Amino acid sequence: MKYTITIKTLFGLEPVLANELNQLGYKEHETHIRAISLKGELKDIYYLNLHLRTAISILVEFEKFSIKNDSELYHKLKKIKWTDVFDLDKTFSIRGAVNSKMFKHSQFPILVCKDAIVDSFMKEYDDRPNVDTKSPDLVFDLHIRDRDVTVSLNSSGVPLYQRGYRTRTGIAPINEVLASGMIQMTGWKGETDLYDFFCGSGTILIEAALIANDIPSNINRKGYAFQKWKNYDQAMWEEIYDAANKRPKRDLGIKIIGSDIDAEVIQSARNNIKRLPLGRTIEFQIKSFEDFEPESDNGVVVSNPPYGKRINPDSILEMYQGIGDKLKKDFNGFDCWIISSNLEVMKFIGLKPSRKIKLFNGSDECSFRKFEVYQGSKKAKKNEI
Ligand SMILES: C[S@@+](CC[C@H](N)C(=O)[O-])C[C@H]1O[C@@H](n2cnc3c(N)ncnc32)[C@H](O)[C@@H]1O
Repeated sequence: MKYTITIKTLFGLEPVLANELNQLGYKEHETHIRAISLKGELKDIYYLNLHLRTAISILVEFEKFSIKNDSELYHKLKKIKWTDVFDLDKTFSIRGAVNSKMFKHSQFPILVCKDAIVDSFMKEYDDRPNVDTKSPDLVFDLHIRDRDVTVSLNSSGVPLYQRGYRTRTGIAPINEVLASGMIQMTGWKGETDLYDFFCGSGTILIEAALIANDIPSNINRKGYAFQKWKNYDQAMWEEIYDAANKRPKRDLGIKIIGSDIDAEVIQSARNNIKRLPLGRTIEFQIKSFEDFEPESDNGVVVSNPPYGKRINPDSILEMYQGIGDKLKKDFNGFDCWIISSNLEVMKFIGLKPSRKIKLFNGSDECSFRKFEVYQGSKKAKKNEI
């Protein structure tokens, strides 16, 4: 059976997700804002949940209809065979996106949908499944645009950036999906050294090591909502998982090195890595970024310095000046990518970015900038900021 599958991602990562799909052999898909849709079977739903690094959640459409008025919503929802999808002992929740003049309150259609589900179960079993908004077994997605209603099942459950490896973090960890998307935007696939001298709990380094070792970012994830569906095919899932559950490459031939000034956060990064089959792929150093030195003549820097929310303005300005000085002094020949939400101080890096990409780290609007450092970059400082 072919399903319509909608893969949600973060703003700005649509091209990366499209590229991932192409690489995995899914050439036919349609890009939307923060989502890509395609057709696929049950095995594709399992495979994509495991393999996509920049997906946030994967929705599977199972009913689509039009309504003439608000009262028709309940009757059409009630016709759905909800009892075919899940059992009484499972909990559920409904998330919605409602954009229709028919409904004054966006929560109302969600309550109607809950009633339709509960009434269907009551009719068949004289009992009802419970709603759980915190960690439900099943998550339904109700999408209403004008008169058109789409009901989908979220096959992922909790968002796919909850990879299962990061149990300890610093105060401002970067979203795992964003980190992977950023690395993929640089074009890095593991052929050169990669450095992050503000590595915190190691998210960028871990996502890079997973890419270099060709190990899915979600290899350690605790579970997926599709495992709670009535049609869950455990043998099919195990076959897909076992094929992906490889050992790390013995020798990558390159280095992935992170450093941070905070010893405690480096310890968190080390602990996070222990949960993954990454062997000794990543090295750590406890030091300030000014003292970090690359171990090769070329490579890629991907780094997420403090944005300055908790630091006084003069120090943050000096820090970004210092980053620019560091890049010019020691990273000649490197592609250096820095993400920050603090656009004011980013100017003080003093190098002209060859690319600027708008991204969001949570609710913070950020700029992800590429600095190609080469002899003479210092001159750019005067003329080009
Ligand atoms: C935004 S956080 C990085 C978060 C990281 N990407 C993660 O996912 O956990 C910035 C990091 O910069 C570190 N830091 C602050 N000042 C530093 C300095 N002078 N040199 C090196 N690291 C520094 C902080 O300890 C913090 O871990």
